[in-house]
Order: sequence, then C-alpha cells, then structure tokens
Amino acid sequence: MVFSDLRDYLKFQEKNNDLVHVTDEVDPDLELTYILSEEERIGKKRTMLFENVKNSDIPVAGNFFSTDQKIENILGDKPYNVGLRLKNLVRIPDDTESMISRGLQMMKELGGIRPKVEQRKSSEFNVLEKVDLGRYPITKNWPMDGGKYITMPLVITKDPVTGQRNVGTYRMQVFDNETTGMHWHIHKGGAEHFSEYKKESKTMDVAVVIGTDPLTFFSSIAPLPNGIDEFSFRGLLARKSLELIKGETVDLEYPRNSEIVLEGYIDPSETRVEGPFGDHTGYYSLEEQFPVFHIKKIIEKKNPIYMTTIVGKLWHEDVRIGKAIERMFLPLVQIQIPEIVDMNIPEETVVSNMIVVSIKKRYPGQAKKVMFAIWGTGQMALTKIVVVVDDDVDVHDMKQVMWAMTTRIDPSSDVFIIPGTPTDSLDHPARIFNYGSKMGIDATRKTKEENYNRVWPETLKMDADIEKKVDELINRLGSSQN
Ligand SMILES: Cc1cc2nc3c(=O)[nH]c(=O)nc-3n(C[C@H](O)[C@H](O)[C@H](O)COP(=O)(O)O)c2cc1C
Repeated sequence: MVFSDLRDYLKFQEKNNDLVHVTDEVDPDLELTYILSEEERIGKKRTMLFENVKNSDIPVAGNFFSTDQKIENILGDKPYNVGLRLKNLVRIPDDTESMISRGLQMMKELGGIRPKVEQRKSSEFNVLEKVDLGRYPITKNWPMDGGKYITMPLVITKDPVTGQRNVGTYRMQVFDNETTGMHWHIHKGGAEHFSEYKKESKTMDVAVVIGTDPLTFFSSIAPLPNGIDEFSFRGLLARKSLELIKGETVDLEYPRNSEIVLEGYIDPSETRVEGPFGDHTGYYSLEEQFPVFHIKKIIEKKNPIYMTTIVGKLWHEDVRIGKAIERMFLPLVQIQIPEIVDMNIPEETVVSNMIVVSIKKRYPGQAKKVMFAIWGTGQMALTKIVVVVDDDVDVHDMKQVMWAMTTRIDPSSDVFIIPGTPTDSLDHPARIFNYGSKMGIDATRKTKEENYNRVWPETLKMDADIEKKVDELINRLGSSQN
C-alpha cells in the first residue's frame, strides 16, 4: 500500500488501532521523545500523535518504523522480497526467456519511477512571512544534548556540476530561529555536493522537508550509491512516481506531500561546532565542526504535522530500520559478492560496527577477499569489524557465530587489523575523527593452502537414521507423559 502523505499513513494506523492520540500537555524538551522511547522499550511500539505540545500549536507524530510489520506495510512487502525485486532489475535474461517479455517487464517496473514536477497550487501551502523556527515543536532528546535537533529531515541538494539530486536524512541542531547545523557525515551524498560547492566557492541551495509519507522518508535513508536519485528510488519502490513542486527561493524540487519545508543556503566557508547529541551508538556523539544552514523561507501545509524520532539505546526504531535495510540490500550485495549466503548486522553492535557474513568457501583466502569487498562497497565500507563464517553457521544465531568465532580462528593468523581506513563519523574510539582502523575475523575452516597443516576436525553430527529413530522415540515419550 502506498501512503499518499503522512496524514494518510496516520489514518491507516488509526484504522489498525496502532495510533495513540496523546492529549495531555507534553514538553518537547526531553519529555516528548522519551515517551516515544518508553513506548518502544516496553514493547508497545504504537505510532503516537502528540496533540498538545507545550509552546507550539503544531502536533508531533512519531514511531513510524518501530516494528517489522509497520515497515512491511510501508514498503508493501517484506524488505527481503523488495530486495529480490530490485535484484531482478539487473538480471540478464537466460535462453529460455523471451526478450520481449523481459522488455515488457522492465518497462512495467521502470516506466513511472521518475518524479513528476507539477505546478504548485496557491491554496496548497502557506508561505510564511517570517522565518521563525521557534514556532515548531522541535525536540531535545537527551539531557546533555547541545540543544534542540530536527531529527527526521529530508535534506535535498544538487551537484553543482552534474545537477544530480541527493536526498539524505542528516540531523540539524537548532542554533537560533533562522539557522541550524547540517550534520552530514563526510562520506554522505550531501557532503560530497558540499565539497563541490566549496571547490567553486559557491553558495549551496538546500531544501529541507520535515514530514512526508514514510516511504519517501525511508528512501532518503536507504544507502544508495551517490548518483542514484532517492525520489526515483521511491518511485521504484512505490511503483508510482512521486509528485514534486519547485522551490520558491531555491533551485530545487521537493515532494508535494511535504508538511513543512525550509528553503535556504549553506555558505561553504562557514562551519560551527555541532553537538553533543544522544546518538544511536548509545553515547553522546562528540562536538565537531559542521556547516551552517541559513533559512530564507518556510513553507507549510495547512495545519502541518511535525515528524520526529529518538535514537539511543538499542530498542528504538532506527534498529528496525537498520534490519530492514540489511534484509533489503542482501540480494543486491550478493550480485557483487556472490559467495555471500547470508549476512547479519547484529542489532547489539549498532549499525556500522560489525557485519557477520556466511560464505560458500571454495578457495584459499576467500574470507579475506569478502572482507575487502565489503570494505569497498557503499556505506558498508564504514563497517569496523567484519566476521566471515562458513555457510553451516546461521549468522542470525549469535550463539553459533560466537562458537565459530572461537573454534575456527587462531588469532595470530585469522584476525587482521587494517590501519589507516575511513571510519563512521560516529566511531568515537577512532583516534582521529573519520579515520581509524578495521578488524577482519576469518572464522571459516582453514585449509592446507592457508598454512593449516593439521587435519581439520569434523563437526559433530549424528547419523540420519539414528536421529530419526530417536526423534520418534522422544515424541512418543512426550505424548505418553502428558
Ligand atoms: C533517524 C536517522 C538520523 C540520521 N542522522 C544522520 C546524520 O545526522 N548524519 C548522517 O550523515 N547520516 C545520518 N543518518 C543516516 C543517513 O540518513 C543514511 O546514511 C543515508 O543513506 C544518507 O544518504 P546519502 O547517501 O544520500 O547521503 C540518519 C539516519 C536515520 C534513520
């Protein structure tokens, strides 16, 4: 099901009895997002609409992606199935398939994905007289946060040379009623555009959307290679093109279904200290220099709804989003690294700290080859620790993973440390911001060619006929005791 906008999604949640209207007065300073957090921690995880927010007339919605079922509703299918569909797009037809039917299939998939730029209707939006972020219920999430942060923005920029659009979600710290920080990590699409503007000493147009349909939001956080337009990707996922409208004061387009749009610019010569911020690592991310966003115009839907989230301690919705991305992108990763059977980004290790992959190992050194491929692929390149296991290990069962990690390695030969690599900007143990090291653990069975000159032991397995006989016996014993 494709939701036309945020309100359409909230209506759907209401029908599903999965929306709570909070009518008590709630303070956006620490209280509001902590309610979202507790709702998630205790396992209820309902979407919430705060209708009485202190010092603002604007309601706040949160917990859109807090369960796998919600994400499936938003994507219209299980993330892994969506990934298989994406993989099918790059499949070369085999001899048995007619080229015409393959061509028709591709036309159906790709026909309408490009966003359509439409005329703005004057009745649709209010263009505010004055820029004043003070009127929004922007939240402060954790006590030592450096201030209030816009946590679910879609930041839209264009490459000054190619005109290619990028849409990414990067938190924005409120500095005053007209300026915010722009916390795009150096490896991300927005930062790449920024470096192009910096080279040319040109001011950069930026549009920021707060509140849109959840599939468009999901597309902005999907780790797409730079150069792939997130709004077209959204069209591909929805099988329906997204309607855009032109900005008032910026040479950029944004979704017609936006709730609030901030139009403005970044001067590439200006930076300011941003942070700290209670982040998805479970720590406050450190203060660092980031660009400053100056707002020129604010455009709103009538009676806008503000969209927010909290991250921080393993049970928040970003963990579910991370899992969905892992499942959705597995089939695509397998195109490039075909020996990967399965992959797990363990929830406990917080997104870019660790990936466990199982492989069908065929030749010596293959585990290392897979590690380097992961460190060379998109945002997976920021992964700190890669663990490679054989395909008899279920990567989603951390007991099995720990068993392989301890019984299939000799540390001096099978653990590799690679210094001088890019790291995730949130990797605080790195001695230098954005620059640190990697660890690879080859927990596959070793072969003679890999200098293992002993006989690798067989793993324990019972004979199939004994297994069957004993299972039957146990079943019988079970029923006679009941
Ligand atoms: C709630 C949330 C907040 C995020 N905040 C940031 C952020 O502040 N900076 C950042 O670089 N990435 C952040 N991300 C991750 C990016 O949105 C993600 O890496 C995305 O793929 C970036 O898009 P890009 O490749 O077009 O730059 C956040 C993700 C989520 C779900």
